[in-house]
Amino acid sequence: MEWNKVRSELDKFMEEKIDELNAMPKIKQAIKYSLLNNGKRFRPLIFLSFLSDNQNYYDIAMAIECIHAYSLVHDDLPAIDNDKYRRGDKSCWYAYDQATALLVGDSLLTLAFDLVANCSVEEDKKVKLISILSKKAGVNQGMINGQMLDIFAENKDIDLLTQIAYEKTGALLTASLLMGNVINQIESDSFIEELGLNLGLFYQMHDDYLDYYGDFETLGKEVQSDMRNQKITFASLMNQKEFQNQLMQLQEKLKFALETSNLTNNTKQLLLKIINVEIN
Ligand code: IPE
Ligand code: IPE
Ligand code: MG
Ligand code: MG
Ligand code: MG
Repeated sequence: MEWNKVRSELDKFMEEKIDELNAMPKIKQAIKYSLLNNGKRFRPLIFLSFLSDNQNYYDIAMAIECIHAYSLVHDDLPAIDNDKYRRGDKSCWYAYDQATALLVGDSLLTLAFDLVANCSVEEDKKVKLISILSKKAGVNQGMINGQMLDIFAENKDIDLLTQIAYEKTGALLTASLLMGNVINQIESDSFIEELGLNLGLFYQMHDDYLDYYGDFETLGKEVQSDMRNQKITFASLMNQKEFQNQLMQLQEKLKFALETSNLTNNTKQLLLKIINVEIN
């Protein structure tokens, strides 16, 4: 699959969908700003990697990216992580204002379900897609509970940090995989759930690593945000060498799981691209 081509087609699709909204220009502009800027689009691409050439369900892919973008818009708010930069640009609240950022998040969250409800897949599959997306984005062992634990849990240890990563980051990655599997049943849901959680753990640990050891240029956001927020992350529980070892062990575990899976070559290739980051 040509990821850059798919990515730009998806971006064009998303832009048109936002243009079509009958809404105040200021919020449409702020939605576009938050959805279409420089993100990697990994989650919708994961979903699309399950599909065959004639199944271009960009509306479902967009729904997944809407949830992700909304989570970042709210995550950056002064009441949560208080981050002024995201993807190399000002975060939504800093570029606009806090009220707009709250409402942009609300818009993206609700738009996601509108998109899936009106997509062209069979009704029984549609209900499954909505159920997965709402559960994984939600509070019941989902993204919201992960965010709540991330903000308010005290005495974080490695087990709790793992649960937080599973929920705040793994849940939506798992949803992207499971939703692909609803369209074309390729693997068992239980295998996918486990893969999604480990992928989320790796992704979040690496994000914590970069927050602590990275720089603005590679991150597109200010570093050591976690430390400023006095947040306990994986970087607070181990030194750099131990952290690198943990990340490399997880990389190997994920690669083995991928190699021994029935996933399509497209999915394997994309997930390897996500996993094979240099750790230095
Ligand atoms: C950032 O996700 C938030 C985390 C879950 C760590 P991404 O790294 O996928 O962000 P974008 O969409 O590419 O900006
Ligand atoms: C964000 O985790 C996870 C969600 C938005 C659900 P972080 O707060 O670590 O993500 P960044 O570092 O701001 O991208
Ligand atoms: Mg956060
Ligand atoms: Mg954050
Ligand atoms: Mg982070």
